[in-house]
Amino acid sequence: MSERFISDLKRTHSCGELGLENVGSQVVLMGWAMRRRDHGGLIFVDLRDREGITQVVFNPEVDEGSHGEAHTIRSEFCVALRGTVRARPEGMTNPNLVTGGIEVYVDQFEILNPSKTPPFMLEEWIEVNENIRLKYRYLDLRRPEMYANLLLRHRAAAAARRFLNENGFLEVETPFLTKSTPEGARDYLVPSRVNPGSFYALPQSPQLFKQLLMMGGVERYYQIARCFRDEDLRADRQPEFTQVDLEMSFVAEDDVMDLTEGLVAAIIKEATGQQMSLPVPRMTYDQAIDRYGLDAPDVRFGLELTDVTDLVADAEFKLFATAAAKGLLVKAINGKQMASLSRKDLDDLTSYVADFGAKGLAWVKIKPEGEWQSPIAKFFTPELQQAINGRMDAVEGDILFFGADVPAVVHECLGRLRLELARRFQLNKEKGLTFCWVTEFPMVEYNPDEKRWEAMHHPFTSPRQEDLELLTSDPGKVKARAYDLVLNGSEVGGGSIRIHRPDVQAKVFAALGISDEEAQEKFGFLLEALTYGAPPHGGLALGFDRLVAILAGEPSIREVIAFPKTQKASCPLTEAPSRVAAGQLLELGLRLDKAE
Ligand code: AMO
Ligand code: AMP
Repeated sequence: MSERFISDLKRTHSCGELGLENVGSQVVLMGWAMRRRDHGGLIFVDLRDREGITQVVFNPEVDEGSHGEAHTIRSEFCVALRGTVRARPEGMTNPNLVTGGIEVYVDQFEILNPSKTPPFMLEEWIEVNENIRLKYRYLDLRRPEMYANLLLRHRAAAAARRFLNENGFLEVETPFLTKSTPEGARDYLVPSRVNPGSFYALPQSPQLFKQLLMMGGVERYYQIARCFRDEDLRADRQPEFTQVDLEMSFVAEDDVMDLTEGLVAAIIKEATGQQMSLPVPRMTYDQAIDRYGLDAPDVRFGLELTDVTDLVADAEFKLFATAAAKGLLVKAINGKQMASLSRKDLDDLTSYVADFGAKGLAWVKIKPEGEWQSPIAKFFTPELQQAINGRMDAVEGDILFFGADVPAVVHECLGRLRLELARRFQLNKEKGLTFCWVTEFPMVEYNPDEKRWEAMHHPFTSPRQEDLELLTSDPGKVKARAYDLVLNGSEVGGGSIRIHRPDVQAKVFAALGISDEEAQEKFGFLLEALTYGAPPHGGLALGFDRLVAILAGEPSIREVIAFPKTQKASCPLTEAPSRVAAGQLLELGLRLDKAE
């Protein structure tokens, strides 16, 4: 057994910093063993800590007793050692490693803790089932890639705090155990023991409290806030996630948007060293939908949607002609030099858009002289073909895709198709960070299932002053003073100027079909607060996980969250959610349905 020496010694260096300038010095390193290689009597181990990797060398022949044990070191053993830094022999250096010019020749070491064989290899990035990674997240986090993501996230949060502190914002914590804050998802409920039958709701965002803080005269608030939403999960959604949440008094849209641009630029600068190009271009919601089909447009590439309804109205192709006659919409996108798509590709794309409601996907390949090749070509006169080519800027080698339907379906389907084509043809490769603002959102959208208007943002968003009259007569036309920040086609933030007058708030609730009683019951406290000289105010929340994931180049926000949940909202590590003891339920006055 090696003598225990660790209690007397302090770590002198990390595993990521020793170089030729340290040759000859005695160092103490602590970390985890990676590969062990036995070579001609010597034992080589790569020792890893969060800062990097250092090659260490044991020589069993020099000290049989102690170094003999080096043979027992395995992957992920936790090890401490003292040794001397040596230059690596010629030909043995590793230029890919900061410490690749040296190695540490061990004179004493101790296995601090052995390790079972890890359930997956940590060394190189190999695909491991995500459930296994999450079950052993503490091992997964030892991977340098994961540490780099946590570090990036930490730097981004620190930059946000610094920027907001310097701009007069106060960090204020708001409650988790609260009343429902509607953001369009289901609530997570927490039963109250002392008030049997009553429940708290975890906040979907700090929205109501940050508005109350403005009414409390705080003027500039921020919080790196956890939000809870029980919704269907995707790569960019988690049941609990983090916002950089802020609110300001006495402001209009431009103030919040300018401040946000500064904030995001500071985050990007400090977290990645990149310079964000400012100001961020703006487009209205109507423009975004018209040109890109979606309200979070990826503007890194063209493939824009073009209206051809007027042109196809005269075509012999019944489908389009009737659509035009019925007042539906026919739009097209030009897949520039994508005519190489095979019949199978086109079938795949057709079923891809079918998932978003498309009844079909007509396509046309452009041949020399602009001639059409397509099952539907015969229904279009040569003149009409040329006219459409002209409108679409189509030349040989291009492929046109058409959508005919109600506007919502055409936009959604061609918008998605546009992204899918960009993905297949790698149009976004190495395009960097491209932001845009989307403004002037509709105030409400119609929910055909529930047959009523719903707030598109949340019900506290201010309508435009000039649209107030429309609230009762034509709610679908009312524009909100809302804005979203979009990065590479992903909504990374959203906010609005709020309603600060009780009469306007009452009008909006009425337009949303929320009765006075319901409004009182749910938000009475807010309505009352508005009657005590509430200042004009507005704000925004950045989706912090999404922003960091994009900065890290990760496809899912789970890669930048230390302990995320699976698609089924469960945690394989702790096995949450889990059943609870009958006594606990009793105490809460709850009983499970027998069927459960
Ligand atoms: P909103 O609901 O748009 O606005 O949320 C703000 C941003 O949070 C991110 N986000 C999510 N990220 C991960 N998982 C989720 N489930 C999730 N849901 C939303 C998005 C989004 O842009 N109170 C308002 C803000 C305001 O008006 O000031 C709000 O919460 O990036
Ligand atoms: P059909 O006459 O049904 O064989 O359709 C001819 C072509 O039009 C096929 O390529 C269909 O995919 C396409 N198509 C059908 N419905 C639509 C639609 N609503 N919008 C665009 N293309 C469609």
